[in-house]
Amino acid sequence: MRERLRVGVIGAGRWAASAHLPGFSRSPLSEIVLICDLDRDLALKRAQEFGIPDVTTDIEELLARSDLDLVDIVTRGDHQDLVFRALEAGKHVLVEKPVCHDYRDVLRAHALAAAKGLKTKVGLTFRYAPAVVYMFDLIRDGFIGRPFVFNGYEQNSQWLDPDNPMDKRIHKTKPAGETPWGMDLSREGIAVSSLEGYGAPTIDIGLECVGEDLAQVVGILSNMVPFRRRTNLDTARERINIDDADMFMAETKSGALFSMQSSYVTVGNYPGIEARIFGSAGAIKVRLVDEFGVIQTIHTAQPGAVEFVQRDIPAKYFPPGFQTTDPWSTAFYGNLVHNFCEEIMAGGPVNQGNFAQSARVQEIINAVTHSHRTRQWVNLPLEGNVGTSGERSPF
Ligand SMILES: NC(=O)c1ccc[n+]([C@@H]2O[C@H](COP(=O)([O-])OP(=O)(O)OC[C@H]3O[C@@H](n4cnc5c(N)ncnc54)[C@H](O)[C@@H]3O)[C@@H](O)[C@H]2O)c1
Repeated sequence: MRERLRVGVIGAGRWAASAHLPGFSRSPLSEIVLICDLDRDLALKRAQEFGIPDVTTDIEELLARSDLDLVDIVTRGDHQDLVFRALEAGKHVLVEKPVCHDYRDVLRAHALAAAKGLKTKVGLTFRYAPAVVYMFDLIRDGFIGRPFVFNGYEQNSQWLDPDNPMDKRIHKTKPAGETPWGMDLSREGIAVSSLEGYGAPTIDIGLECVGEDLAQVVGILSNMVPFRRRTNLDTARERINIDDADMFMAETKSGALFSMQSSYVTVGNYPGIEARIFGSAGAIKVRLVDEFGVIQTIHTAQPGAVEFVQRDIPAKYFPPGFQTTDPWSTAFYGNLVHNFCEEIMAGGPVNQGNFAQSARVQEIINAVTHSHRTRQWVNLPLEGNVGTSGERSPF
């Protein structure tokens, strides 16, 4: 095994610049050797900013490189094809969510990785926030006792303004050959968006907090801002039926309660996450909302001292190279990237936040969508009887 993993990055956009590239450049276990973007100037810019020796616009060239250990996919839109191709090429894969829109495809990708002895990780950013890693340790140490109730929120006001285009990609020409999202205006036909794009990481945190799978869910998807610009090239607003606010509640296998709310039209700042877990012996509340320079807090309470008190987060929970001026994206993603490099370097079975975990989360998203469409409780696991065709997120 090399001393440092050799990384090829696909996608040189905004999230790569603020999360992935700082993470891989700061980890002592990795070096970025190649960056690929359809936009050559952007790839060159990132190469200069992060000292990356090689640039390409052609993913074939990247996937053919036998000296790469790890492929990092940070593109916008569908990731499924790139994921399967990178795994087929024998690379460990980090990919932004969603891996695929249907949990069954995520499981296929997981099986392929397992068959090839490769590790995977999904951009479930917030399980790596220092406050959340600390919370997971407290739960493992028995701080909350038996989990009773989890509440998750992921909400901000990014799309409250209807002139903020629904499609986040920056187009120079109108996208051709894509089926437009949100054209079915019926209640049942709403396109999945916030739940997949924004709910997923907090569902992931909730599953860790309750420590088991969900048994049944009931949920609703809503469209609060019905008219909006479709792309950065459009001047007029049009009716687009997408889920910009949603809620679901659920019961775990052993009867704990689980609720979740996600929205990007609710006033509040990024990333807008709150995770609260209440158990027989204690309760923990983590807040990941960038407010007045504070990016994370953790509060705890116990039966003998029911007023919540804030805890300092120990230094060991922060990533290599952490600086107090880091934005939340750099601070949280630094842990994700470094943890993935550690897992690959260590060999062995440990691989948290991998495709199997992402499939669990995606299955819940698919189940909540099915619940909305059929107006009924939905049992988990879905066992392959619920299709997701046509349910695509624009993000
Ligand atoms: N985990 C999180 O918390 C989090 C936060 C923000 C964004 N994201 C995700 O990160 C991803 C990227 O978001 P972004 O804001 O950086 O988008 P962006 O549009 O700024 O950048 C994406 C880049 O990918 C490039 N690209 C697209 N297809 C390509 C291909 N086939 N080959 C090479 N380059 C290609 C584009 O040219 C573009 O420069 C999205 O999936 C988004 O959902 C995740």
